[in-house]
Amino acid sequence: MQLTTEDFKFICQFVYRTTGIVLNDSKREMLYRRLTRIIRERKLNSFAEYCQLLREHGEQEEDYFINAITTNLTSFFRENHHFEYLTSEELPALIKNKTVSANGKKRLRVWSSASSTGEEPYSIAITILEALKNELAQWDIKILATDIDSNVLAKGKTGIYDMNRIEEIPKKLKKSYFFQGSGKSSQSVKVHDKLKSTITFKHLNLLHDWPMKGPFDVIFCRNVIIYFDKKTQQELFSRYYEMLAPGGLLFLGHSENLGNYQQYFSNVGRTIFRKP
Ligand SMILES: C[S@@+](CC[C@H](N)C(=O)[O-])C[C@H]1O[C@@H](n2cnc3c(N)ncnc32)[C@H](O)[C@@H]1O
Repeated sequence: MQLTTEDFKFICQFVYRTTGIVLNDSKREMLYRRLTRIIRERKLNSFAEYCQLLREHGEQEEDYFINAITTNLTSFFRENHHFEYLTSEELPALIKNKTVSANGKKRLRVWSSASSTGEEPYSIAITILEALKNELAQWDIKILATDIDSNVLAKGKTGIYDMNRIEEIPKKLKKSYFFQGSGKSSQSVKVHDKLKSTITFKHLNLLHDWPMKGPFDVIFCRNVIIYFDKKTQQELFSRYYEMLAPGGLLFLGHSENLGNYQQYFSNVGRTIFRKP
């Protein structure tokens, strides 16, 4: 099957318009592979026919198409220095300084804004539960996990992972937060309900409206803006800034930076930024 330059361009524009993701020639192979699969599933014969489908029924096809083209690589405690910072600096400071709100509890809100299959929000939940262990009853903890890809959100919601995904997690944490399956599922683990109950998974395209009120104490925006152009990145940073509580933290991925927006935050660690 041939992918003409014209069809490739059309698809790149469609991806940009719907997701903000910028695809260039280096992604041509990847796009070819992933779309060939969809074209077969749709029982079509060519990229041209698929482009026509996108032109005529773009809205219906969008979800399926987006799920196929997103890159969802993630892992538990990925870029562990962020979780170490939460444990050693941020959570002790919050424990010390948070005051009780109207419901009689200390409010803690975290947003994992490109949560993929859930390893990131579950790692956040483990980190928080470990730090607040002795005073959990005093806290009202909510972690919002959002992604544009409905498949990865569904996976995250199940809380079920292959055993090898948690290999690197310390034994003590594995024991406290994961159940091993039995019989046919003996190579899978399921996260404990005490983690699940702190997390809400929701579909959200970062380019669209953000219906939540905030403010958030911590926002994870890791390994997603790398796919966007500078203009989209700067727009998002301004919106993240608005969503953060004063003193709140923004975590970026290892190869990401705030660009011009750096002046509005203080850099408190490797890819860790604090709103003044
Ligand atoms: C590489 S994963 C990063 C996962 C996790 N944050 C981490 O660092 O391990 C990037 C995620 O961003 C999501 N994504 C891409 N474009 C998005 C958009 N416009 N809105 C929301 N999520 C998006 C993808 O679906 C994917 O799950």
